[in-house]
Amino acid sequence: MFDIKIYLAKQRARIDHALAACLAHCEPQPRIVAAMRHSLMAGGKRLRPVLCLAAAEAVGHPVPEKALMAAACALEMVHTYSLIHDDLPAMDDDATRRGCPTCHVAFDEATAILAGDALLTLAFEVLSAPEAAVGVDGDRGRQTVYELARAAGYQGMIEGQMRDMVAENTVLSPDALEALHHLKTGALIRAAVRMGAILAGASQTALADLDTYARHLGLAFQVADDILNVKGDPVLMGKAAGTDAARGKNTYPSLLGLAASETLAVQLKDRALQALASFGTTAEPLRAIAGYTVGRKR
Ligand code: IPE
Ligand code: IPE
Ligand code: MG
Ligand code: MG
Repeated sequence: MFDIKIYLAKQRARIDHALAACLAHCEPQPRIVAAMRHSLMAGGKRLRPVLCLAAAEAVGHPVPEKALMAAACALEMVHTYSLIHDDLPAMDDDATRRGCPTCHVAFDEATAILAGDALLTLAFEVLSAPEAAVGVDGDRGRQTVYELARAAGYQGMIEGQMRDMVAENTVLSPDALEALHHLKTGALIRAAVRMGAILAGASQTALADLDTYARHLGLAFQVADDILNVKGDPVLMGKAAGTDAARGKNTYPSLLGLAASETLAVQLKDRALQALASFGTTAEPLRAIAGYTVGRKR
């Protein structure tokens, strides 16, 4: 029987090791590196890099380790940058993240802005580095750069963040909220799965099925985040609860109520699982991650 706890622990250790190696070790540590490391190494769930590795595993063809880990690290760097900026006073103004003071609290606003910028650019440096291209067939490396850039940019996550901010203290329609969540959170989760699948040389059909899985999973993930903001334990989550309501954010619990949001998260997880029907045991990690995503406490 597949044990998701053991799998996640193993993959997270692998990812943490690779991320630490991406940040140059110099003494004395420059302030910007200290700020980047503060947020990057604070112990996130590493869901996006884990998804990238699990998607490659689902496809089943071997991928050079350096290329796969470069993609995984780049995803986590983009994600961490987005959290640093999301927590800034000009955005969600949060003081705790990953169980630590947020970057602008631990350092200062200017440093947090720069640390976010530096992680975003480092992501593309790592992803496009010559060593990440060794042994990668044809055009696949370039395709992963394209996937990440599109997902993170103004047609993806940034547009989602823009809609999230503009819609504070208004009430969005269900369709508009779904679109916001797909952009804000879903785009990067989708990119994570697609990048792993592309590196592993997925067929068009396999890529389409994995994409469907990731779309449902990405929405389920943000619905679960909304639910945790209402009823989660801040100590376990490593960030504050109750902040969405306080800021007049559009969330699934505010739109549908808690019970209906919980039902929706499970339905989305089931749809994600259905998309994996044509895969065999190589997709067990992806299946288990779907269950983990809606059942998580942090
Ligand atoms: C938090 O993401 C922000 C959202 C997109 C909902 P995670 O819940 O993956 O945060 P970490 O990486 O574990 O800190
Ligand atoms: C964060 O969304 C999404 C991005 C950073 C792109 P939220 O603002 O809802 O997430 P938390 O609750 O602060 O982690
Ligand atoms: Mg936000
Ligand atoms: Mg936030």
